[in-house]
Amino acid sequence: MKKMQQQRGVTIWLTGLSGSGKTTICENVEKYLRIEGYKVEVIDGDVARQNLTKGLGFSKNDRDENIRRIGFVAHLLTRNDVIVLVSVISPYRAIREEVRHLIGDFIEVYVNAPLLVCEQRDVKGLYQKARDGEIKNFTGIDAPYESPLFPEVECITDQESVTESVTKVLNKLEELDYFR
Ligand code: PPS
Ligand code: MG
Repeated sequence: MKKMQQQRGVTIWLTGLSGSGKTTICENVEKYLRIEGYKVEVIDGDVARQNLTKGLGFSKNDRDENIRRIGFVAHLLTRNDVIVLVSVISPYRAIREEVRHLIGDFIEVYVNAPLLVCEQRDVKGLYQKARDGEIKNFTGIDAPYESPLFPEVECITDQESVTESVTKVLNKLEELDYFR
């Protein structure tokens, strides 16, 4: 029996500040890919932290451990031809590079919005809590965010629509020959 050409696995890694729009872009890319019939999985930081990485906090060590575990699962899925969407702050460049090398088929998407904008959005009220000192080690306030130097895609979410950001991601998949 003739086998259809296989879907190629890839991890699309969305990194950016809390409130920058990672989850939103992720959900919309996922929706599109499912409609088109692709096998897709999503790993969102907020969700992973309730199961896979439960118990980890927001120190550098815990964040690195969080990213390593999520990266490992993304690696397993990717090598089984799944398109994996990962949305995590992943503020440290070195661990993102580690995961990139582990996975190989890796598209880094920098979800870029100025801190001021994320803080004004404050969707979950966490920035206010961080400013009030109720939350410690909050990314952008009293914990660092190391922006990507050479992301495959950059979405500037205070200047472009969700559709524009999603289109950028999909165009990159097309360009790198992941649509089959
Ligand atoms: S990390 O840095 O990659 O390990 O973080 P991640 O797993 O993506 O989890 C980020 C979500 O946790 C909430 N939250 C915090 N974010 C940053 N710093 C601190 N201290 C913090 N405490 C809780 C927040 O809702 C993040 O979700 P997003 O979707 O990014 O806003
Ligand atoms: Mg989110």
